Amino acid sequence: MKKIAVMGTGYVGLVSGTCFAETGNQVVCCDIDETKITNLINGKIPIYEPGLEEVVKRNVKEERLTFTTDIPQAIRDAEIIYIGVGTPMAESGEADLTFVKNVAQTIGENLNGYKVIVNKSTVPVGTGRLVHGIVSSRSNGRAPFDVVSNPEFLREGSALYDTMNMERAVVGATSDHAADMIIELHKPFTETIVKTNLETAEMIKYASNVFLATKISYINDIANICERVGADVTKVAEGMGYDKRIGAQFLQAGIGYGGSCFPKDSKALVHIAEQVGYDFKLAKAVIETNDKQKLKVVSKLKSIFPSLKGKRIAVLGLAFKPNTDDMRDAPSLEIIPELVKHEADVEAFDPIANRAAKQFFGESITYSTDLYKTIENADACVILTDWKEIVEMDLDKVRRQLKMPILIDGRNCFDLKEAEKAGLIYHSIGRPVVEHSAKVIQ
Ligand code: UDX
Repeated sequence: MKKIAVMGTGYVGLVSGTCFAETGNQVVCCDIDETKITNLINGKIPIYEPGLEEVVKRNVKEERLTFTTDIPQAIRDAEIIYIGVGTPMAESGEADLTFVKNVAQTIGENLNGYKVIVNKSTVPVGTGRLVHGIVSSRSNGRAPFDVVSNPEFLREGSALYDTMNMERAVVGATSDHAADMIIELHKPFTETIVKTNLETAEMIKYASNVFLATKISYINDIANICERVGADVTKVAEGMGYDKRIGAQFLQAGIGYGGSCFPKDSKALVHIAEQVGYDFKLAKAVIETNDKQKLKVVSKLKSIFPSLKGKRIAVLGLAFKPNTDDMRDAPSLEIIPELVKHEADVEAFDPIANRAAKQFFGESITYSTDLYKTIENADACVILTDWKEIVEMDLDKVRRQLKMPILIDGRNCFDLKEAEKAGLIYHSIGRPVVEHSAKVIQ
């Protein structure tokens, strides 16, 4: 059992802290936001993450997990301090390290014995050394300490599962002793440990995320070519995926990646490379493909309707992916303003993210949690997120509800034959268009 303080109760901090408590450690999660901490003490979770609330409540009840705004005290009591604060992206693509630096200063000022300081926030290569320098100067040699980089690979929507069953833990440390402490902490989660130095661990995080983003942009480029040569990208991906060297995952063509990691990390890695005089052209192309891909559904709509003015468009899904209300870099943030600009009348459906989405779209669109009502009388229906309810919707009913039987699927949720059988005009990504014999477009 270790005494752990976690700085920052965002996604990374809260999930990691909860999982450390779940595996028997004594954890205090800290934040400067009083309301957030009060809510957490009262069992209110600030993020939508399936299963998290239950595990938080159990660990609070069993007194392994507490919450506080008294950061100095939490630091003094801890053996291990995790930094999981936000690193928002500045205009330049550079990560803003203000919160990380503030935490490092507070740790330095309150260092009262040997501690292991672990960075879990996604930070530029070199931040571990920076934290080491800040703690060192603020603590004036009062006590020894080590710094570790232990990057996070969890996915939103399956964050608990991903942490409890991680495929590997990456531990980059300034001493073997500190590395061993963090490796021990991860024994319940995985046997596979990559032990390395600070810079390498920091680089692994970026290299992994940008590689996955590259896979997505690659298959989206292939999808765009498939559309021109009459091939089906889902079959192309299947055919590629059986090759173990390629792997079947992250080859789903669509309207591009969003979320809190891929967009931010790809830009940050380009910036990191620039800082050391390297022009990372491949990553730049990945970003460019992704930016263009988001608007594919709009161009498909425009190829059908000479004008979108006054057309009722049902938009299905607002969040960047299913099982989350996260709107960060969601493709809908580009697509909806474009539809609104063309004076389309947009009614959106999302099971969870409507409230979060309202902060971006305000009253420019209407919101619904009733899938079929959203579709009723629409001139066209556009799928942006592959929520279970959407993937499982009854296409016959969809056709009956629609004014015109037009379905634009940005996530390739349906089989082409199924769409044809339902009598839909079905446009998806990287697959042949399913046409309908009746002429319906005015
Ligand atoms: C990702 C990484 O998976 C995780 O390891 C890292 O720690 C954080 O970033 P997350 O952003 O939660 O996790 O979502 P993920 O499920 O990876 O999807 C990211 C985006 O890529 C979504 O917008 C998704 O729709 C898109 N995507 C994913 C595709 O377009 N095609 C695919 O084949 C896979």
